[in-house]
Amino acid sequence: MAGKRVLVTGAAGFIGSHTVDRLVADGHHVLGVDDLSTGTQENLSGILEESRFNFEKQDVSAPGAVASIVERYHPDTIIHLAALVSVPRGETEPGLNYRLNVQATHEVCEAARRHQVPRIVFASSAAVYGECAELPLAESAPTIPVSQYGYAKRISEQLLEGYRASYGIETVCFRYFNVYGPRQDPASPYSGVVSIFSDRFRVGQPVTIYGDGTQSRDFVYVGDVAMANALAATSETPIYGTFNCCTGESTSLLDLIAVLDRRFPGAPKPEHHPERAGDIKHSLGDPTAIQSALKFAPATPFAEGLGTLLAD
Ligand SMILES: NC(=O)c1ccc[n+]([C@@H]2O[C@H](COP(=O)([O-])OP(=O)(O)OC[C@H]3O[C@@H](n4cnc5c(N)ncnc54)[C@H](O)[C@@H]3O)[C@@H](O)[C@H]2O)c1
Repeated sequence: MAGKRVLVTGAAGFIGSHTVDRLVADGHHVLGVDDLSTGTQENLSGILEESRFNFEKQDVSAPGAVASIVERYHPDTIIHLAALVSVPRGETEPGLNYRLNVQATHEVCEAARRHQVPRIVFASSAAVYGECAELPLAESAPTIPVSQYGYAKRISEQLLEGYRASYGIETVCFRYFNVYGPRQDPASPYSGVVSIFSDRFRVGQPVTIYGDGTQSRDFVYVGDVAMANALAATSETPIYGTFNCCTGESTSLLDLIAVLDRRFPGAPKPEHHPERAGDIKHSLGDPTAIQSALKFAPATPFAEGLGTLLAD
């Protein structure tokens, strides 16, 4: 099978850089695009010299910017990961959230329509579900987001569905649950809890738990997410639709701390603070649909993924 040509937006970010690594390792050609607002060249340091990889610094929300790149590069697929990923910033700057999380998606859709790109893979989020009582969440669950970020991801999904219906572009929306692994920036207060807690245990500082620690998440390892992105982008068989990208396994904060305690004996005890208003208590996805569409579902056991992160 000849390598595909894949355009990856947000390529210098956490999930983007792992996706690029996977694609290039599998023999594909990749053009990575990123404005380096939260991503770094360092995330791509292992691949910058690779002949099948090229990088362009570009704001993908700028009108016509993605179209002009697509016109030159002729990708078989666009993987659109670039976004404003900070939920709190989306609340305080709804205009920026709209530009980066809706307008940029429209730019990607238009670039694909005008230059006949047959497939788009999009990074949506479990945030589209909001607080849902019925767990595990299947894709048919109601989508009632509780943030500007969640609404923007849902609007983007609908834009993509519309481009599939009207123009026949195969659009794949992955609702990532809580992604963790190497290269997630622990310095960012908006980073995932796994990255923040791992970093604090490593340097011998106490972690803060809001509430009793029984709150739980479906933690999905970044290497599995990269694999799902790469498979969807390069599959020879048609694929489209909206899929949870999750493990179906629930891990509580207390479970996470128990693993870290074993790894760092003598670490300071966690500090407990009252529960925060607005925090979702439990989140858990059903991976059945992605499993049947891709013949693959994220399955790295949490202890194994965490071990890889800690060894990094
Ligand atoms: N990490 C998670 O747990 C998670 C969960 C659900 C969804 N997602 C989604 O996955 C995608 C990747 O997230 P991540 O965790 O790797 O975050 P990240 O911040 O590491 O990656 C986002 C990348 O997009 C780039 N970017 C932002 N705005 C841009 C613009 N206008 N033009 C070009 N590049 C731009 C940033 O510089 C960064 O490299 C995002 O769409 C995010 O919403 C992530």
